[in-house]
Amino acid sequence: MDTLISKFSEVVGQTVTIKGWAYNVRSSGSIAFLQIRDGSGFTQAVIAKQGVDEASWNAAVETTLESSVAVTGVVAKHPKQEGVYELQATAVQLIGKAQEYPIGKKEHGPEFLLDNRHLWLRAPSQWAIQRVRNAIIYATYDWFRDHDFIKIDSPIFTPSACEGTTELFEVDYFEDRKAYLTQSGQLYLEAAIGSVGRCFDFGPVFRAEKSKTRRHLIEFWMMDAEAAFVDHEGNLQIQEQLVSFIVKRVLETCQQELKILERNTEPLTKVVAPFYRLTHAEAVKKLHELGSDIGEMDDLGADDETLLTQQYDKPIFIEKYPAAVKAFYMKRDPSDPTRVLNADLLAPEGYGEVIGGSQREDDYEALLARIREHNLPEAAFQWYLDTRKYGSVPHSGFGYGLERLVAWICGLHHVRETIPFPRLLNRLEP
Ligand code: 4AD
Ligand code: MG
Repeated sequence: MDTLISKFSEVVGQTVTIKGWAYNVRSSGSIAFLQIRDGSGFTQAVIAKQGVDEASWNAAVETTLESSVAVTGVVAKHPKQEGVYELQATAVQLIGKAQEYPIGKKEHGPEFLLDNRHLWLRAPSQWAIQRVRNAIIYATYDWFRDHDFIKIDSPIFTPSACEGTTELFEVDYFEDRKAYLTQSGQLYLEAAIGSVGRCFDFGPVFRAEKSKTRRHLIEFWMMDAEAAFVDHEGNLQIQEQLVSFIVKRVLETCQQELKILERNTEPLTKVVAPFYRLTHAEAVKKLHELGSDIGEMDDLGADDETLLTQQYDKPIFIEKYPAAVKAFYMKRDPSDPTRVLNADLLAPEGYGEVIGGSQREDDYEALLARIREHNLPEAAFQWYLDTRKYGSVPHSGFGYGLERLVAWICGLHHVRETIPFPRLLNRLEP
C-alpha cells in the first residue's frame, strides 16, 4: 500500500510503500539509513542487509544524496522520540539516481542558492516556507468565503496605472497604444462591487522596482479586497479580522514548519484584533522621539517602518497619510482635506507594511479632478469614472502583499525566499 509519510501515525505496524527523495544517506557494513522526504514529511528508513534481498541492499547502498527512491517497510514508532516514526525496510527501489548534488551541507551564499532555486526549493526550510505560504492562501480564501466575499479575477493586461506611473511594465502588443502589466486589481474590483457587493482577487502583480530592498520583488502576489457600503473604519475591521484569522490558522496547522524555520511563535500568538492605530501625524511624532528625521508630510520610509514596528507587539494601522504621498483614488478626510482616509498596516518586529488600503473617492467630480491632478490619461479611466456615474456608493478596500505576509509570519529577513521563483531587479532565472 502506498502512503504518505504524514499518514504514518495511522499505519503503525503495517507494511507500506513511500516514494520520495533521499536527503541524507549513510551506510556501514550491514546497515543503511536513508532519510527520505516525500513532500508530506520526513522519515528515516532503516535497511538491514539481512532483512532485504540483494537487489534492495544494492539499491540502498547505491542511493546518493537527492536520488529518488521507493521504500517498502513496516512503520514503527521511534524508540525514543515521541511522534516520530521510522520505516523498517523490506524492499528498496532506486528510481532516479542523482548525480553529485550541488547544494551541500556547507553554507552557501544567497546568490548561489538563488541560481539553484530549482533545487534549493527542496531544502527543509524552503519546504516549510512554501507550506506556510499555502496555509495563508487557503486561510484567506476561507475567511472571505465565510464573510460573503466573492472571488473576482482581475485582468493582468491593463490600459492604465493603478499605483503611480513610475513602476509600470510596458507591453508592446496592441497597435497604436501601450498596455501595462497590472500593479493591482483594485480598480476592477471597484467596478465588480456594483455586481457582487463584496469581492477579492488573488494573483500576480508587477512593479518595475529599480531598487534592491529586502521587501521588494518585481513580480509578486497580491490579494485585493473591495466592499460596497464599507467606510474607512469598517475597512480596518475587515483587515484586522482577516489577518488575525490567517495568523491563527498558521499557528494551528504549521507548527512543524515554524519549528524548522526556528520561528519564535510567541509574538505571533499576540496577533489578535483589535490592532493598534496611530495617525500618520502621531507616527511622525513618535518617529521623531525615536531619532528619525522624517518630515511632517513625508511618506514613511522603510527605515521608519522598521524603527516604529520594533516598538509594538501587534500590527499597527497608520491612518490618514498626507494626500500628496498617496494614490489618486483615496478619499480625502473630511476633517482635514490635506489627508486621506487610508491606512497602511505595518507588521510588528520590524517588518513594516504588509497591507495598503483606503476608503475610495466616490464622487465623480472629485475623482476626475484627482485624475487630472495626477496627470493620468483621462481616456483610459473613462470606464472607472463610469462607476461613479451609475449608482456610486461609499466603498473601501485594501491589498496585501503575500510575500510580505509570508516573510513576517515565517520570520524571514528577505522576501526573495517566500516566492517559489523570485523575480527581482537582475534576476529572471531559473
Ligand atoms: O500599497 P500598495 O501599492 O497598494 C495597492 O496596490 C492597492 N491598490 C491595494 C488595494 O487597495 N487594493 O500594495 C499593496 C501591498 C503592500 O502593502 C505590500 O505588502 C505589497 O502589496 N507590495 C509589494 N510586495 C513585494 N514587492 C513589491 N514591490 C511590493 N509593492 C507592494
Ligand atoms: Mg503601499
